[in-house]
Amino acid sequence: MPTRILHKESLIPGKTSKLLLDAPQIARKAQPGHFVMLRISETGERIPLTIADTDPEKGTITIVYLALGKSTTMLETLGAGDVIHDVCGPLGHATHIEKRGTVVCVGGGTGIAAMHHIAKGHARIGNHVVGVIGARSKDLLLFEQELRVFVDELLISTDDGSYGHKGLVTELLQDRLEKDKNVFEVVAVGPVPMMAAVAETTRPFGVKTTVSLNPIMVDGIGMCGACRVTVDGKTKFACVDGPEFDGHAVDFAELRRRLAAFREQEAVSMEQWRVSHGN
Ligand code: NAD
Ligand code: FES
Repeated sequence: MPTRILHKESLIPGKTSKLLLDAPQIARKAQPGHFVMLRISETGERIPLTIADTDPEKGTITIVYLALGKSTTMLETLGAGDVIHDVCGPLGHATHIEKRGTVVCVGGGTGIAAMHHIAKGHARIGNHVVGVIGARSKDLLLFEQELRVFVDELLISTDDGSYGHKGLVTELLQDRLEKDKNVFEVVAVGPVPMMAAVAETTRPFGVKTTVSLNPIMVDGIGMCGACRVTVDGKTKFACVDGPEFDGHAVDFAELRRRLAAFREQEAVSMEQWRVSHGN
């Protein structure tokens, strides 16, 4: 349904923004792990975005996106007061959350925003939440303050060493798992290479590992097959069977190939849009 943007905050200028949407029906039902599909115009493609936060009382949801392709670049042209043509959700399965002890929630780049909602769900139920977040540099690190409100510990890395540990999130995770035998689950949201590396880091420790996958989606309701992924040798549809899966069973190589399949067409479509809008 048509959905108004109540507030827009640029997190990384020209690249990543946070939108607060007036979506009471979605806010009432959405749980950590759910996503929405939005369309900027009637003929526009659907953009799947994991919900970063909800406020059921105020009837709002928060989404964060990386302006990368044509549709997200078009989304970036909207601001507070504008209406998104339609927002559909909540979609997918909610994160399985139970009170069991220490959970490590890993977020990389834009994925930190989606990880935030999952970590919040674990904190609400009373788990000890260790947040591990990483970005290429300090200015690209999202949601640090939002996470500090409820996580028990927050470990930070940057690839260039401009803030926190110099290196990757998986180095902090490895160190934590070597020292702490009480971790019952690791949850990871971020770029595919990061989620694959998290799964390889946790495998020798035998710790349950959940990843939130972001394959290409078209309808978001299990009809088109665009979002198919192989998990434990079986075909799954991320939109209706996921988006979260056992990281130790996901075929990440196939997921990477499928994500790259339309890169050329995406670049052409982006260029056409730029030319037609004088950008
Ligand atoms: P990025 O490439 O800048 O990486 C962010 C951090 O992830 C790095 O600083 C590093 O700590 C870690 N990382 C990356 N590659 C790694 C590797 N090979 N091994 C170990 N750690 C690694 O991230 P970005 O450019 O902001 O990309 C964000 C990605 O997250 C996008 O691809 C987007 O599609 C995805 N995303 C997914 C979801 C979801 O719900 N699954 C939500 C939002 C964003
Ligand atoms: Fe069409 Fe999942 S997006 S089946």
